[in-house]
Amino acid sequence: MSDRLVGKRIFVTGAAQGIGLAVTQECLKQGAKLFVVDRDGELLRETVERLDADKGMLEYAEADISDASAIAAAMAQASEAIGPVNALINNAGINVFSAPLETTDEEWQRCFDVNLKGAWNCCKAVLPGMISAGGGAILNIASTHSFTIIPHTFPYPLAKHALLGLTKSLALEYAAAGVRVNALAPGYVETQKNIDYWNSFADPEKARAETLALHPGKRIATTTEIAKAAVFMISDECPFMNAACLVVDGGLSVLQHAV
Ligand SMILES: NC(=O)c1ccc[n+]([C@@H]2O[C@H](COP(=O)([O-])OP(=O)(O)OC[C@H]3O[C@@H](n4cnc5c(N)ncnc54)[C@H](O)[C@@H]3O)[C@@H](O)[C@H]2O)c1
Repeated sequence: MSDRLVGKRIFVTGAAQGIGLAVTQECLKQGAKLFVVDRDGELLRETVERLDADKGMLEYAEADISDASAIAAAMAQASEAIGPVNALINNAGINVFSAPLETTDEEWQRCFDVNLKGAWNCCKAVLPGMISAGGGAILNIASTHSFTIIPHTFPYPLAKHALLGLTKSLALEYAAAGVRVNALAPGYVETQKNIDYWNSFADPEKARAETLALHPGKRIATTTEIAKAAVFMISDECPFMNAACLVVDGGLSVLQHAV
């Protein structure tokens, strides 16, 4: 246990597994109080029980970030449970991958409702309190898909590009109010989502090996490596970092593959 986040009351979305779970664990280690949400209430309950945090340090509620009124209610509940929220980590997101002309309206809507509107719903719920308290920190978990395009992943990268736009826009609008808004862009991370993706191929092991081989270091990130970067960005150790996007991808997005 360390004290880099003592005094932080953090709302984390999509905390039941993956990056959100690792972020929750690392923030707890640094002395933060957390209120975590996930649309999978049962998995979230199991996760929170397993984490076995000290009393009052970790509270939770089932909530879907695409539902603005559910998020407003969860933010109010968070305020009651851990005190006014002064840090938000917009982590929950979903893969919606298709080819542009094969994408249905339902897929398009679902992608933007969760990956963009969901983050905005949480910002909208937290910003008034941060502004009246004189400041706060928001971190949006973006992706290398926020500035690159992998064919056949449409429309996910469009929403992630827009999430970066939301980050920059809110960062400038509320900088004078003391609110910092930044983005963290992981590349491939060892999560269930990626395991499911590799499992969708005829030879999952081969698909996984090919992903690893794409990377300069021949491996992908652990969720803890992403979470440690999130701790830094949400802490008071980088007070002038605003409207920034920190890329944590092992160098993948800089690498130009030989043709
Ligand atoms: N895994 C990667 O390689 C990777 C890379 C770059 C960016 N990201 C981003 O990181 C974030 C987390 O990804 P992950 O891989 O840990 O995902 P994950 O699927 O392992 O976990 C996501 C969690 O979010 C929850 N969730 C999904 N939709 C929700 C909603 N509408 N409301 C509330 N909760 C919801 C899920 O139930 C799940 O528990 C996402 O925004 C993703 O786009 C992931």
